[in-house]
Amino acid sequence: PKTGRAFSQPRMVQYEVRRTVPKIDWNNLGFQYIQTACHVQSVWKDGEWSALQRVDEPYVRMHIANTALHYGQSCFEGLKAFRGRDGRVRIFRADENAKRMSSSAARLVIPNVPEQLFLEAVHTAVRENEQFVPPYGTGGSLYIRPILFGSGAKIGLQSSDEFTLLVMVVPVGDYYKGGLSPVTAIVMEDYDRAAPKGVGHVKVAGNYAADLLPNMMGKSAGYPINLYLDAQNRRTIEEFGTSNFFALKGNTYVTPNSRSVLPSITNKTLIQLARDDGMMVEEREVDIDELETFDEVGACGTAVVITAVTRVVRGSKLYEIGDEPDRVGERLHSLYRKVRAIQYGEAEDRHGWAQEL
Ligand code: PLP
Ligand code: COI
Repeated sequence: PKTGRAFSQPRMVQYEVRRTVPKIDWNNLGFQYIQTACHVQSVWKDGEWSALQRVDEPYVRMHIANTALHYGQSCFEGLKAFRGRDGRVRIFRADENAKRMSSSAARLVIPNVPEQLFLEAVHTAVRENEQFVPPYGTGGSLYIRPILFGSGAKIGLQSSDEFTLLVMVVPVGDYYKGGLSPVTAIVMEDYDRAAPKGVGHVKVAGNYAADLLPNMMGKSAGYPINLYLDAQNRRTIEEFGTSNFFALKGNTYVTPNSRSVLPSITNKTLIQLARDDGMMVEEREVDIDELETFDEVGACGTAVVITAVTRVVRGSKLYEIGDEPDRVGERLHSLYRKVRAIQYGEAEDRHGWAQEL
């Protein structure tokens, strides 16, 4: 009788274990996968997280009945490490990512990852891949991606009995080509990102699966970024597919306070910087028609940093923001420079956001 052997050759691209640092064009990094030296992982079983392990090959061996693949019991984080002018590596606000991962885990019935373990995993992953942190002056950073998922076998719908925490890293540059240059966003009329009492407020994998199709449709129509409205009334602004929405109006920083928006750590940072600068901050409902009244609008997030959005298309309506929609406004630019300066260790870190490796 035939055995399964004839089918057993894996067809995927096989990555060898990295033994040397490859030649990387540090000045032209985009946001793409590059294999680094290793990732780190810890497994939860019988009520305990295992000691951290370094894994050199970029694969995980998983049970075919794991709950992440079948039922989406999976969440993740995104944060960055920066090499400063002084050569030191700083990780930005990792404690905030630890807290957000706790809230994602709780919503998906995944055991909590203690903050200490999360921070140790992040620091170890960066330390073991330090040669992949882009040099100072290139504008690049090391993107850190912790993921947490049900790795045990279950076939009925229930939570797993084994979970894997894994932290991988990848050197990155700009998420959108052209860095800070302005983009036009599109409202995809037939798609919502999050239900009012759903899971929009946590960073679960399924939210991004739901965004893939509208994201791809928007991109093929020439719009690199999607703006989502509230699913119930389709009147107020929620956020972009991969980042939060904020606007500047006179001396005020405005950002939506919806419970179905992901609480962005970058947004929290910008709010603090705006306050430090004497600005008023309004966290409130933002009607889509208010777009035309704003001086500047930005998309903010770890991957996108700050991207200026100067036009928004919704059906046949085009909203133009500010007086010069072909340029990035000066105040957005200034906020961008302030955040970057703290991240690269060039400006005083008054709030203790950057942690040296
Ligand atoms: N909103 C969504 C949907 C995101 O995926 C992200 C990216 O992490 C953000 C907002 C920004 O969050 P943060 O600034 O913490 O990266
Ligand atoms: C991030 O900004 O860290 C994100 O997770 C967005 C992702 C889609 C790249």
